[in-house]
Amino acid sequence: MGALPPRRLAVAPMLDWTDRFYRYFARLITRHTWLTTEMVTTGALIHGDRERFLRFDPSEQPLALQLGGSDAADLARCTRLAAEWGYDEVNLNVGCPSERVQSGAFGACLMAEPALVADCLSAMQDSVDIPVTVKHRIGIDQVEGYDYLRDFVGEVSRRSACRIFTVHARNAILKGLSPKENRDIPPLKYPYVYRLKQDFPELTILINGGITDWPAIETHLAEVDGVMIGREAYHNPWLLVEADRRLFGDHHPLPTRREIVEALLPFLQARIDEGVPLKHMTRHVLGLYQGVPGAKAWRRTLSDPVALRGNDPGLLLKAADELERRLPRAA
Ligand SMILES: Cc1cc2nc3c(=O)[nH]c(=O)nc-3n(C[C@H](O)[C@H](O)[C@H](O)COP(=O)(O)O)c2cc1C
Repeated sequence: MGALPPRRLAVAPMLDWTDRFYRYFARLITRHTWLTTEMVTTGALIHGDRERFLRFDPSEQPLALQLGGSDAADLARCTRLAAEWGYDEVNLNVGCPSERVQSGAFGACLMAEPALVADCLSAMQDSVDIPVTVKHRIGIDQVEGYDYLRDFVGEVSRRSACRIFTVHARNAILKGLSPKENRDIPPLKYPYVYRLKQDFPELTILINGGITDWPAIETHLAEVDGVMIGREAYHNPWLLVEADRRLFGDHHPLPTRREIVEALLPFLQARIDEGVPLKHMTRHVLGLYQGVPGAKAWRRTLSDPVALRGNDPGLLLKAADELERRLPRAA
């Protein structure tokens, strides 16, 4: 592809959710929003099924691969692989609080070790030409103040070439909260991220956490360079349809939801021909009609084990047509 769009809007990395099926679908809705893979650990990439973790459809670009790890040499090796496979960015996960991740000494616990993070990012950046970026929290455990975040970003940016920081604007609690609770319970502190941008104007700062609508996106964009959206982009992907014209100056005619479903069918059929069951893919499109009357029937049909057993992508079109037939006609 040509020049990459600025990172005004990005979909967050989400394990189990932002797989290649979701990303293909999301890309039909927005052409320029950055997409991110699920986190892949260096161990999984080095020892596991590389093709499974790395393959993507070129239409998914611009696309970042998110890595989890804390061994600089392993991270550099995986970053090279990402570049060879054509990714546009590699992102290091310094925000995940899960115990499993901590036992491998990476994720959010690395916020306490900015020098190590900088070493990892330097080794990664030295091995490729694509940007290496980092996603982190504002602090860990009982840290209260802004200084911790400022010092982390200050040291990492001073000691490495990393210039793009995505900040999930809440602490990670390393013990006692599940990963899910860690996405809801620690309070959001957006002003810390705004202040970070003021203190480091030369860095690209993206804000993440709890952002669910356009007024909020635009408020944040007045303060920082970009917004990253996680859960809302999954549960209500239609939010993204406005992105191309609002943020990227691309005024192509907006697709309808039905057109998205139609465009998805050949992709679904190709995957089914490769042996992927339809049900593995339909779960990612359950949110397409979020907020539209009839959305419940759409979700019901697409999660019905009996209907899905036929592995017929036409099921989606039938469900979409059924729903749209019942909609009150626009005046
Ligand atoms: C199901 C799920 C899986 C996630 N997996 C990852 C991950 O692999 N890497 C990561 O950095 N963050 C992960 N996150 C956190 C999101 O990237 C994001 O930081 C968080 O959900 C807050 O943004 P939101 O409020 O817009 O959802 C995950 C979140 C969810 C809901």
